[in-house]
Amino acid sequence: MRVMMVGTGYVGLTTGICFAEMGHSVICYDIDKSKVEKLLRNELPIYEPGLEKALIRNREREQLFFSSNLNEAIGFEPDIVFICVDTPPNVKTGEANLEHVYSAAQKIAEALIGSDRFTVFVNKSTVPVGTAATVQRIISEIIPKENFAVASNPEFLREGSAIFDFMNPDRVVVGSSSERARRLLEDLYKPLTRAGHALVMTRTVETAELIKYSANGFLATKVAFINELALLCEKAGADIEELALGIGLDNRIGRSFLSPGPGYGGSCFPKDTSALAATARSMGSPATIIETVIKSNTQHKKKMVEKTEQIVGNLEGKSIAVLGLTFKANTDDMREAASLTIIPELQNRGAAVTTYDPIAADTASMMLPNVNRAASIEEALTGADAALILTEWDEFRHSNWSKLASLMKTPQLIDLRNLFNPVQIKAMGLDYYSLGRG
Ligand SMILES: NC(=O)c1ccc[n+]([C@@H]2O[C@H](COP(=O)([O-])OP(=O)(O)OC[C@H]3O[C@@H](n4cnc5c(N)ncnc54)[C@H](O)[C@@H]3O)[C@@H](O)[C@H]2O)c1
Repeated sequence: MRVMMVGTGYVGLTTGICFAEMGHSVICYDIDKSKVEKLLRNELPIYEPGLEKALIRNREREQLFFSSNLNEAIGFEPDIVFICVDTPPNVKTGEANLEHVYSAAQKIAEALIGSDRFTVFVNKSTVPVGTAATVQRIISEIIPKENFAVASNPEFLREGSAIFDFMNPDRVVVGSSSERARRLLEDLYKPLTRAGHALVMTRTVETAELIKYSANGFLATKVAFINELALLCEKAGADIEELALGIGLDNRIGRSFLSPGPGYGGSCFPKDTSALAATARSMGSPATIIETVIKSNTQHKKKMVEKTEQIVGNLEGKSIAVLGLTFKANTDDMREAASLTIIPELQNRGAAVTTYDPIAADTASMMLPNVNRAASIEEALTGADAALILTEWDEFRHSNWSKLASLMKTPQLIDLRNLFNPVQIKAMGLDYYSLGRG
């Protein structure tokens, strides 16, 4: 099958490469020429484990092409066009900004004028319920109704394990009122469904759109829940890790997303929970649980600064080493990372912050301009009054902490990812504080 990806970000690029890997012919189109030029040099514009090898392999076997020229991309004659553009939140209202989705749909439809081919437009971007209907209207004003159909196929991959997630999905979700579109998408995903992965197919595109927001809303709720419980454990003298195991082994609850941390971030949970809340409000059916989760997560990040202050004392003039800036490990994505709230608040309270992140130093320099940047953990910790772990990078787990402790002014380690066994790490000479473990 011939497939066109619109947008070569985390989602469009990964899924495009994976479709090529599955044997489809894929062209990836992006309006950002510099991204496409990089890709044409076999360089990745993002950090994602395993993606570079797959990119080179599929270009070599001529399954994968790139272009920043829309007419050239449409000349590829795709059967299916996936819209994978960004849908950033409106800071004031929390609503998803759909400008890029609508503009992509319009431009592609215009490029199809005069063609008799049947094309399926698929929203892979995360969009509020009702977006497919608007996309349908936009396109129908440009090309004949019988030449196209619109579908929703939300994406559930996680950055850092994106290829694995795409190739091994718990389920593929497809929604379209068009039988022809549903059959085409069913064929496209045959390599996955034949391998036993479930396909949830719905005739109401609205259901598919809502599945994505509901899934992220539910997962964000789990994270906010366990973070609140971690703080309660500290007051009650209980252990959050054992508590998470004790509830997570109940199949009705499940073990995933029960690791406490500094507050969820990333390009999806904050944006999708806000958009779900905004959509629900606008439809007169408020999502009060999600509204509370958003508030809880914002407060949790502030509480992490208060926790640091309680341990270190007055932060004025203190030197704090922050280890890990990205919203989670194995990605360079800094969007909505907890570090972006916690570091400025530490600085407001007078701390001098030095940061170290194994991957995101360059991205972070634009988003956190007033911090000292260290090139290694050793450099970050030298002379520090305390170290604060925000991201669960493996490098932190495997460092020589006895040596690192000796470099610090006071060896206080505040681990907001619970990376270490408290007894073992204390034996290495650190005053160790973690989340929800007494
Ligand atoms: N990042 C994730 O982990 C993830 C997971 C699931 C779903 N999503 C959703 O997928 C969508 C894309 O996310 P992302 O992280 O890949 O975004 P991104 O910002 O990394 O990439 C978006 C790309 O779209 C391009 N673009 C914008 N307008 C365009 C247009 N008109 N024509 C062609 N290209 C255009 C941009 O140049 C950019 O390269 C979002 O809706 C997001 O919520 C993201």
